[in-house]
Parts: sequence; C-alpha cells; structure tokens
Amino acid sequence: MKLKTISDLEDRNYAAKAVLIRVDFNVSVNNGSVGEDYRIRMSIPTIEYLTKRGAKVILASHLGRPSGPDANLSLAPVARRLSEILRSSTSIRFVKDCVGDSVKKEIANMSSGQIMLLENLRFYQGEEANSPEFCKQLASLAEIYVNDAFSTSHRKHASTYGAAKMFDKRLAGFNLAKEVEYLSMMKENPIKPFTLVIGGAKIKDKIGALEHLLPKADRAIVGGAAAYTFLKAKGIRTGNSPIDHEHLSWVTRALSSFGDKIMLPTDHVVAHSPKDNSAVLVKGDIPDGMSGFDIGNETAEQYSAELGSKGSGMIFWNGPMGLFEVGLFANGTVNIARSMALAFWRGSKTLIGGGDTLEAIKRAGVSEGEVSHVSTGGGATLRYLAGDEMPGILVLDKK
Ligand code: 3PG
Repeated sequence: MKLKTISDLEDRNYAAKAVLIRVDFNVSVNNGSVGEDYRIRMSIPTIEYLTKRGAKVILASHLGRPSGPDANLSLAPVARRLSEILRSSTSIRFVKDCVGDSVKKEIANMSSGQIMLLENLRFYQGEEANSPEFCKQLASLAEIYVNDAFSTSHRKHASTYGAAKMFDKRLAGFNLAKEVEYLSMMKENPIKPFTLVIGGAKIKDKIGALEHLLPKADRAIVGGAAAYTFLKAKGIRTGNSPIDHEHLSWVTRALSSFGDKIMLPTDHVVAHSPKDNSAVLVKGDIPDGMSGFDIGNETAEQYSAELGSKGSGMIFWNGPMGLFEVGLFANGTVNIARSMALAFWRGSKTLIGGGDTLEAIKRAGVSEGEVSHVSTGGGATLRYLAGDEMPGILVLDKK
C-alpha cells in the first residue's frame, strides 16, 4: 500500500489554502510545561513543508482523555513549545476552541504560511464518538486534510476518520508515511537476521504483533515483567513476580512453536518490593516472597552480545527490561539501549516502539540519532504490526 503524501500534490494546490493537519500532540504536560516533545518535533517537517508552500496550516490534536473541557488538558503549553521549536518569526496562533464560527473567523484572517493550533479535540464528545455533526464542523475548517498522527491512527474518531472522509484530498504527512514505511518493511519483509527484543509488562497488548513477528524473527530476546510469564510457563519458580495468568496458555504455545529462537533471562535482580534497597542477584529460580525487577548481569551480557555483535539485519525493541526508573533496576535496560546503539553504528537497522522505550534510551545516554527509527506510537505501533485495521490510514488517498 503506497499512501499519497503531501509531496505528491503540486505546490500550487497549497497556496493560500487552509490545510487541516491531524497531529498527535498527546505529550506529557506538567504544571503547564511540556515534558518529552518527540511527537511535536516529528511533525515539524510536515508543518514546514506546507507553510513554505503558502498554506494556512491548522493543527488539530487531542491531549489526554478528558470527558469535557478541562483546563489541565489545554493544548496552550504545546503551542508555546511548538513556537520554541519552530523559532519562526510568525508566532503560532492558539485558539481556545476547535470548531465553530469564532475558529472559522480566525482562519479567514490568517495569512499564507501562518500556523494555528486548535484547542483539544476531545473537549467535544463528538470527537471520540465520530459524530456526523462534529465531523462536519471540523471538515468545514479547511480544504485539504493531512494525517501526520500515526500514533492515533488506530482510533476511528472524527479527526482521524469521519471528518477526513469528507475531504476530496486526504494526504499522509511525512511522519505518518515514514512510520508506515518502516513498520510495513518489518512486518512484511524484515532484513535478516531479524531480532526482536520484548520487554515491558502487558503481554496482552503485544500478542497480535508477536503472532506476526515471531515466525519471521531469527531470535527473540525477552525481558521485563513479560519474561516471568515465559519462565513460569517453562516451570521455573518466579516467586512473587507478576505473572499474566490470563495469557499463560498463549505463552506456552509460543514457547512450543518458537522456543528454539526465544531467549529468556537466566539470572535476575530480585527484591521484596521496588522500594527495597537490598536487591540481590539470583541465578535460576526466584525465591518465594521476592520479585524480579530487572534481568541479571549474566543475562544482560548475553543479550548485549546477541545485539551488539549484529552489524546487519534488523532489530525491533519494545518495552524495558526492568523497572528502569529505579536506579537499582536500570542496568538491563541501559545495556540493551547501548547495545542497540552499537548495532546501529555497525550497520543494523534498529527500530524502537513505545513511549517507555524512548524514555529508556535517553536514560542510557543513547540519543534518538543512534536509532534508525523511533516510532511515535505505543498502542498504534503494536496494532499496526498485528495487522489490525487502522481507520486513520485506511481513509487516506492511495497512489
Ligand atoms: C497515544 O498516546 O497512544 C495516542 O495519542 C492515542 O491516545 P489514546 O490512547 O488516548 O487514544
């Protein structure tokens, strides 16, 4: 599937036209200040491409999951951060609504090349409900629709689907197109040898993706809380470590089909609780009353050797190896992040997905430039890899 992107339309189509870009500015905001702004930065090439061609750029996003207007979930701080990143002479216009006559009036007064950010779409229930009335209002704001919010394209909402369908021109932004290109390559035709690094806690969210990826992978390295369910399925004692009982039978089946390529931790950093300062290293079984919070040194070395020795093929990493936010339990994740960087420098194509994993590489002192592609999506990335329907992509024009 080849999506039509904004560069497939002749420049003259953009001059003085209002272009609605669905971006995903669902970022962390604390006390009015934006934390990690990766998603904002990833939308810049699309925004600048369109402003340079004279479009009036109207940005629409959600933030959080409000059930109505909520001052704490206003996109105003995001508008400030966007202005800082763009450093353009024209400031970003922030409007306190996302549909209606006042917004339309502001758009009519915009000049070519200006940028406007609308207030949080989810202040209206019609957004998530994909209500025809809200879709109509949103679609009436612009002449061309662009989706650059890969990380929200698994949602069948007004701004990703219903309103999009009402436009004649429905194009992919550069970020969305790049995500689709990388993830489809991995899903359909990964460069060999193909290695998966699976961490984090929620096995349920990863099953669909793993069912597609495991048959194609040459090696799957497992860590994080997910590993304890795998170990339990093999009959290894896991103490009080979290076990996903609901998906134990799926894990047992995965082990019987792909056990020869799945690597599990052989040692663990265990403690009575995450606040316990007396963590210890154990090999094999985890003692009763204790839980695993990180892979052990021997495992970290084995996993690092497996990754760092690659200077070819493709590696996909989703989910940390342990509770890396706590210094005592960060070693496994830090090792994986550094080994991924080494593999990248040696020539592997490396991909990471999920907000936690981006946070983890930063803690390890690895920069975004040391990874081939960092996906902006969490849930969306896994859903795409699982082959689920993505309404926000389905609705876009194809070449
Ligand atoms: C995300 O952060 O995964 C996207 O912005 C989608 O947000 P949602 O899960 O609230 O729809």
